[in-house]
Parts: sequence; C-alpha cells; structure tokens
Amino acid sequence: MLLRRLQLRNHRNYAHLDISLEPGVNVFIGANGQGKTNLLEAVAMLALSASPRARRDEELVGPVAPASRIEAEVESAGRRMELTIALAVDGTRAHRTIDVDGARRRAVDLPGHFRVTLFWPDDLGLIKAGPEQRRRFLNQLLVQVEPGYARALSGLRRILEQRNSLLKRIAAGEDAPDVLEVWNAELVRVGSEVAAARAEAVRELAPDAARCHSEIAAGERLEIEYLGPPEDLAAAVHNSLADDLRRGSTGIGPHRDDLRVLLDGQDARGYASQGQQRTAVVSLKLAEAELVARRSGERPVLLLDDVLSELDLERRGALLRQVGNGGQVVITSVDVGPFPPDLIAGASVWSVEAGQVLPCG
Ligand SMILES: Nc1ncnc2c1ncn2[C@@H]1O[C@H](COP(=O)(O)OP(=O)(O)O)[C@@H](O)[C@H]1O
Ligand SMILES: [Mg+2]
Repeated sequence: MLLRRLQLRNHRNYAHLDISLEPGVNVFIGANGQGKTNLLEAVAMLALSASPRARRDEELVGPVAPASRIEAEVESAGRRMELTIALAVDGTRAHRTIDVDGARRRAVDLPGHFRVTLFWPDDLGLIKAGPEQRRRFLNQLLVQVEPGYARALSGLRRILEQRNSLLKRIAAGEDAPDVLEVWNAELVRVGSEVAAARAEAVRELAPDAARCHSEIAAGERLEIEYLGPPEDLAAAVHNSLADDLRRGSTGIGPHRDDLRVLLDGQDARGYASQGQQRTAVVSLKLAEAELVARRSGERPVLLLDDVLSELDLERRGALLRQVGNGGQVVITSVDVGPFPPDLIAGASVWSVEAGQVLPCG
C-alpha cells in the first residue's frame, strides 16, 4: 500500500498542500501547532472515511472558503487510484462527498481502498481509557479489512438511535411496546455480525501482540480478551427490556463491548505501570499492522504521529523495526532527536511550519 501524492485544500491549517511521498520512510518535522497531526489526520481519513479525532466535519474546514478537499493518489496491489474527500459547509453543517477514481461512493464504501495503521499520542492511553477508545481501536482496524463492517457499524448506530427513541416514547406511554420488535431483531442481527468480526479480530491479534510484548518486557505475558455481548443476544435483549425502558437506552449490544488486557494474568487497566501500558499499546498497534497485512496481502501505511519521543529506546526500536519491513511509513516529530541517524539518512525529510511543508536538506 502506497500513498503517492497528497493534496490538501483548506484542510484545517493547510490552505494548499501538494506533496509526493516516497515509498519508504517519510519524516515530517515541525514545532507544536504547525500542522503535523492535521496532515496525518487527512491521510487517516482516506482510509477511514471520517476523521479519527474530529467530532464534527465542520472542524476540519479551514478559514479560506466554505469548503475543503483531501485528494490522494494511492497505489494498492500495483493499481493506482485517486481518492477524494470533499467537505462543503452549508450554514452550520458540512456535507461530505467521497470519490474513488472519479466515481461517487458512500462513506461506508471508502474503507478498504487505502489502509493505514495510525498510532498517535492519544493511543498511549488506550489501556487506561474508557472502553469507547478500545472499541474504536477494533473498529478502525476492522473497517479496513472486513468487507461490510463499516456498513454494519453505521447500521448499528442507526438501530440504537431508533430503539432508544422508541424506548423513551414507550416509557412515556406514547407508543406500545410491540413497536420495538423489528428493532430488537435488527439489533440482534447486526449486533451479532459486529460481535463476530470483533471476536475473530481479537483472536487474531492476540499471538502477535503477546510476542511483541514479551520481547520488549522480558517475558511478561500479554493476553487480550474480547468482552462482547452475551452469546444468546436475542434472549439478553429480551430480558433487558424493563431496564432499557427505565433508562431510555439500550443496555445490551456491541456498543457496550470492551477489550480486556491482562498482564501476567492481571487486569492491566487497574494496575499496569506507565511503562507496561506503553509496551502493551505498542504491541497492540504492531499486531494491528500485522493483521491488516495478513488479511489484505499488503502492508498498511504506518502513520506514527509524534510517538517516538514518548517511548524509550526499546519500545521505539520495536516500532522502528517495522520500518524495515518494507512498508511505507509517515512519521512526525518535533525534532530528529528520537530517530536513529541511519533512518534519517535513508528517509525523505520534510519541515512543517504553519501549514506549509517543505523538503529539508
Ligand atoms: N479548521 C481549522 N482551520 C484552521 N486552522 C486549524 C483548524 N483546525 C485546527 N487548526 C490549527 O491547526 C494547528 C494545530 O495543528 P496540529 O496538526 O495539531 O499541530 P501539530 O504540528 O502540533 O501536530 C493549530 O494551530 C490549530 O489552530
Ligand atoms: Mg500533533
């Protein structure tokens, strides 16, 4: 998988950008607030179709015009493709349009054309953060490798909205309970699909993550376990009706999932030190890249946003060994300090300043 060329127009603090990237290592150096994360966010959007951090598309549009555009030439299995994500702000809402080789696509159909593994500072809190962040980890991986997963996720979101609003109406006496039946059935159908994909992904991630963790942490045992919905989802949804009505929300389903991380048999969330958490997160991210490579037959583009400076030599080394794996890598940093000199010597290096990117040296 290769990102050949990236063009941005009015994306966050980029008025205009047009760069061609190298197949190997691309390093972007810049002080804080210059646009390094904004750049990787744009690249990640091409893989995920939505920003991995923005809550609203409107945030992404820069000050120049009521529209923005991310355009890329990517190469997958030797085939070149043009991907475009355009945002147009109309009043307070942004409309997103997506094209693949000039043909309009729905947002759920973009993932899978271009694949990345993104690792940014937020991920360092993955272990101790709430379950939503761990579900996002699984979702970002699965939309890229599991056909139909993005569609199922967006279906699930719609089902929950509908079901929750009906629960409130029923509780208020405005609807009869039997209006829920069709939504219960949909929740069970789509929920089982999402849960099965997550369960399989976690089974696949586990051995790679464990191997990587044990190499960095002198034999410490990392186990991950998918905490999904009850096996008999239909019965569980049925049995939770009274609770759901009281709360006005759906208590059972993959929107409540979590990923349990164990270190030497103990729940990492409760007791892991900062160092152990970081090792576990690096290991999960590397396992993610392996899974994507195995399932798709190509290495994803590795996006490392400002994480090298946060890691000690050993964890940095584990991450950078991936760089020698032949895949394309895009790394940002405030300076070249954390990079081995031979890596910088073989890389194409850019400077990022106030939304301008220039080749360095
Ligand atoms: N929609 C937007 N329009 C213009 N500037 C933006 C927008 N969103 C964020 N920015 C600016 O982008 C800069 C942050 O860029 P970022 O990529 O996070 O920096 P860093 O190089 O530290 O990773 C800030 O100066 C912020 O004000
Ligand atoms: Mg940043």
